[in-house]
Amino acid sequence: MTVVVSARRGPLSATGAAALAVPVSAAAGDGPPMAGAGAAELAELGVDVPAVLAAEHADGKPGEVVSVAAPGRPGTRVLLVGVGDGTEPALRKAAAALARAAKSSESLATTLAQGRDPASVRAIAEALGFASYRFTRRSEDSPPALARIDLVLDSPARLRKQLDAAATVVDAVHLARDLANTPSKQKSPEWLAERAKAVGAAAGLSVTVRDEKAMAAEGFGGVLAVGQGSSRPPRFVEMTWSPRGAKRHVVLVGKGITFDSGGLSLKPPDSMPAMKTDMAGGAAVIATMTALRALGVTAKVTGLIPMAENLPGANATRPGDVIRHYGGLTSEVLNTDAEGRLVLADALAYAVARLEPDVVVDIATLTGAASLGLGKRHGALYTTSDDLRDALVGAATAAGERLWPMPLVADYRPALDSSIADLRNIGRRELNISGGSIVAALFLREFVADVPWAHLDVAGPARADADEDEVTKGATGFGVRTFCSWLAARG
Ligand code: BES
Ligand code: MN
Ligand code: ZN
Repeated sequence: MTVVVSARRGPLSATGAAALAVPVSAAAGDGPPMAGAGAAELAELGVDVPAVLAAEHADGKPGEVVSVAAPGRPGTRVLLVGVGDGTEPALRKAAAALARAAKSSESLATTLAQGRDPASVRAIAEALGFASYRFTRRSEDSPPALARIDLVLDSPARLRKQLDAAATVVDAVHLARDLANTPSKQKSPEWLAERAKAVGAAAGLSVTVRDEKAMAAEGFGGVLAVGQGSSRPPRFVEMTWSPRGAKRHVVLVGKGITFDSGGLSLKPPDSMPAMKTDMAGGAAVIATMTALRALGVTAKVTGLIPMAENLPGANATRPGDVIRHYGGLTSEVLNTDAEGRLVLADALAYAVARLEPDVVVDIATLTGAASLGLGKRHGALYTTSDDLRDALVGAATAAGERLWPMPLVADYRPALDSSIADLRNIGRRELNISGGSIVAALFLREFVADVPWAHLDVAGPARADADEDEVTKGATGFGVRTFCSWLAARG
């Protein structure tokens, strides 16, 4: 369930909320941290803010939360939330920490957003939503107490659009997390395709699903090869947002491996549980598509999600097999665990051949190597267009996600030469090139012809090991915020 964040006029104490939160700016130089809007009201409730901050050795750094009772109003908690220097990243951290600190309160009201610029208000509203996310399959569970947050603002009506956009993006990120956190026992390709249909229809999209027979008829050999080791057949989902008068066509492609065992090139046991989220890229595309109408996106956007379960069943693809992708290029499959690129290749080739895209962007939990280099909080960005790089990095930064540009090293390309097919699906080891994330990106590039293209390898940031700032343990929904920000900005 998503917490509802709504705006209202003050004063803070008139909201009657069980928890009241006020921002505290970081100390400037040797001075004490400074409480912001609403602090005077707290004095009336019997809270001596400067004394509390001093006693707690608070310094107002973003994410710090000091909690005290309000003697003047029994049952009410007062939360003093560090906002550091008040920049957007600091406010996101602060709002996320506040949502966690208040999660057992019945209701929360805060002046955190009061007097701030529209982008900051939106960042705060989003962060409160993102950090309130929960996924559970316990037999008995108490629902989260905190269902509603009031943002105290001077003129709530003027910020309506920002708050609506924030709610849209929060819902989309939560959808992406829900899909990726769902165990693969339930999440077959067929199930995921049905979910895409349902949420797509509700969001004003047209959605078509190709089953394994349709894929065979049209030559989607990569998706079929990856899916053939499972008793649960693959699917190819196409979701379309087609507003009247659209001048550009953006195609988003998301890796939809509903479970990645590695196939016959089986993964070690410890690497497997996380592979229920190997469709996180696909989930990000599905979720982004559901937000386009509410965000007023004027471009035509198509989302393609090749879905397959990579299992080592009796009919599984064998190392050494050669497969034929959509459009005709062939791959020698030397490692069945390098399956993401095989399904993406079909989708990219299909986009280029059939959809007349102006730009194609794919997102995939493609290689462990990407997170070796960049860690768990940055997505690796590869692109053939400097403009696209700047636009995506800018959109990510504005939305509170982090992308880092990586090189498409031409000298590494020979590692993908096969002696019997157009390409091999893993780099030739003798060449000792390493750079697994780059080599995977070079493989994908073979399928996009000259269409401007970007690839996001999100194997690192698609999952979190623990609750931290705006992300929650498990699937993070990475990419949804960047895509929403990028597509809304393009008009
Ligand atoms: N889904 C994995 C990549 C991955 C690994 C995502 C860890 C998240 C966490 C992908 O299909 C894979 O297995 N990649 C291989 C490629 C290799 C066989 C060339 C990898 O990264 O080891
Ligand atoms: Mn794999
Ligand atoms: Zn995979």
